[in-house]
Amino acid sequence: MNKEKTLCIIKPNAINDNNIGNIVARYEKENLKVVAMKMVKLTKERAEGFYIEHKERPFFGSLVNFMTSGSVVLIVLEGDEAVSKNRKIMGATNPADAEPNTLRKLYARSLEANAVHGSDSLPSAEREISYFFTDDEIFPRS
Ligand code: CMP
Repeated sequence: MNKEKTLCIIKPNAINDNNIGNIVARYEKENLKVVAMKMVKLTKERAEGFYIEHKERPFFGSLVNFMTSGSVVLIVLEGDEAVSKNRKIMGATNPADAEPNTLRKLYARSLEANAVHGSDSLPSAEREISYFFTDDEIFPRS
């Protein structure tokens, strides 16, 4: 098993619906450990930079508006195969396609307001974590 780190963003809809605790509890139950966490309000520029790979997609502007419509919680999770494990726990991007009991099936409102973001590969995780966190804000655990 490879110990990895991955980035989770709890999106504004899940915060409005009071589901921060439910989401963090689920990760802890599945043995992913929180090694960094902060609540922030993203600026337009910071959200655009984060989602830069989607810049040409038709939903880009709306996604950036949504991600800056309220606060988000940024979490670094650590654990065995954390990237793929988190993707399984989150479920499909579109909640209509998500498996029962996944975070998106439970807490999403729509494809855009889909409760959580998770890194889709190890290189993405490294980029995304360093986009939001400095090394001294991360606390690896045994
Ligand atoms: P996320 O995992 O944060 O990555 C990009 C986000 O764009 C995605 O979740 C969705 O919330 C949002 N999105 C909106 N429309 C689409 C679409 N048609 N395909 C993929 N992602 C979309």
